[in-house]
Amino acid sequence: MAREVRPGHIDLKALDFSKDFVWGVSTAAYQTEGGYSEDDKGPSIWDEFVSLKGKVYQGHHGKQACDFYNRYREDILLMKSMNIKNFRFSLAWTRILPHGTGRVNPKGLEFYDRVIDFCLECGITPWVTLYHWDLPQSLENQGGWANRNILEWFENYAAVCAKHFGDRVRNWMVLNEPMVFTGAGYFLGVHAPGRKGLKNFLPAAHHAAMCQAIGGRVLRTLVPNAHVGTTFSCSQITPLSQRRKDLKAAAVADALLNRLFIEPSLGMGYPTESAPVLKRIEKYVHPGDIETCTFDFDFIGIQNYTREVVKHSFTVPYLRAKIVKATRRKVRTTLMDWEVYPPSIYNMILKFASYKGVKKVIVTENGAAFEDHIDQGEVVDSERTRFLQEYLQQVLKAKREGHNVAGYFVWTFTDNFEWAEGYYPRFGLVHVDFATQKRTLKASGKWYARFLAPTKAAG
Ligand code: NOJ
Repeated sequence: MAREVRPGHIDLKALDFSKDFVWGVSTAAYQTEGGYSEDDKGPSIWDEFVSLKGKVYQGHHGKQACDFYNRYREDILLMKSMNIKNFRFSLAWTRILPHGTGRVNPKGLEFYDRVIDFCLECGITPWVTLYHWDLPQSLENQGGWANRNILEWFENYAAVCAKHFGDRVRNWMVLNEPMVFTGAGYFLGVHAPGRKGLKNFLPAAHHAAMCQAIGGRVLRTLVPNAHVGTTFSCSQITPLSQRRKDLKAAAVADALLNRLFIEPSLGMGYPTESAPVLKRIEKYVHPGDIETCTFDFDFIGIQNYTREVVKHSFTVPYLRAKIVKATRRKVRTTLMDWEVYPPSIYNMILKFASYKGVKKVIVTENGAAFEDHIDQGEVVDSERTRFLQEYLQQVLKAKREGHNVAGYFVWTFTDNFEWAEGYYPRFGLVHVDFATQKRTLKASGKWYARFLAPTKAAG
């Protein structure tokens, strides 16, 4: 039985956020599509990584995932029935250019044509992310994000997508959470491609910061009336104590987790004064690169789930900073062991919206994994509903105070493949039985549908 947690008395109305506030759900290609080799798709670093022993929880993989590749109509219709008007999803580079560069695969383009056209037919606006972590393996074999040639590879991929889909897609995001795919993928080695250390991370991070702006320019040039953004993971950082060392450690964490990619896009360069380890990135910076990193995005997508409490640590090389795990702090957590801390989203909206040059912020992801069970056809996921309501209250507070936050997307629509954690943490508004692919709307999904329902005119 799911643990019953009362949603409480949070009485939120979508209209409180203004009529033109954008409401939606977010997903990503590798986490949902499956069809890993269908229609001439090439292998990506995640196709490869999941086959390595011990990398993903119980050897799970995305070969079928939610079978969105074949079930996209059913899913989009379900979205429509839930009053969801905006759908954020990503394009798999390897469907469009199976080997990253060179030959374009018409069948890959056609799949996304079908998805986009069906969204439009259903009155759902597509919001497309160019890159959500599934780099073509052929490019990784040549060094991946750590190879400076990625600037050209990415520019070409962005141009193919912009030219082909730009007649129907106006809303674009260049990268999804560059700190996570470079940090987890090229520094810690816990995500694909599993590389480690500063020598991989620093060039990967610098090239991602450049591609973010290069992609933005391609979209702005090739897509008529484009609305161009990019997304960042972010968490409020709280120092464990007011001791000088903990404050310094918190500043390092803030520079790496929150500032590293937004600041170069605003022409501010890298936050090296707060995180001296970043001085080593200079080795990869060519003359003119800092200018290349700059782009005036129409919106900044922020993705917030939790906060981090940080303390000084002698044992962590380069950083001298360490995250104090939520489980050790005995606070309310989700299945990811992330603290439930709604004020974090409010503080992140303020932080990002107040940078000079940021036009507006959109919450492109927020949500939570809890232990969900189907019981007589029902999923009673009150903890998720409560989580979403509490975070939304904070979004509303920021908005009412005049901070420019213009939209909110729940992560995620259906339960899906949660990277190294496999299918264990369920984040969906819709439950998926991965053996049968049966979808069941959770109580949180029913709540979101009611929340988004058009209000009837009085009388
Ligand atoms: C961030 C990522 O963009 C998404 O892929 C992931 O599943 C969620 N957060 C939850 O961890």
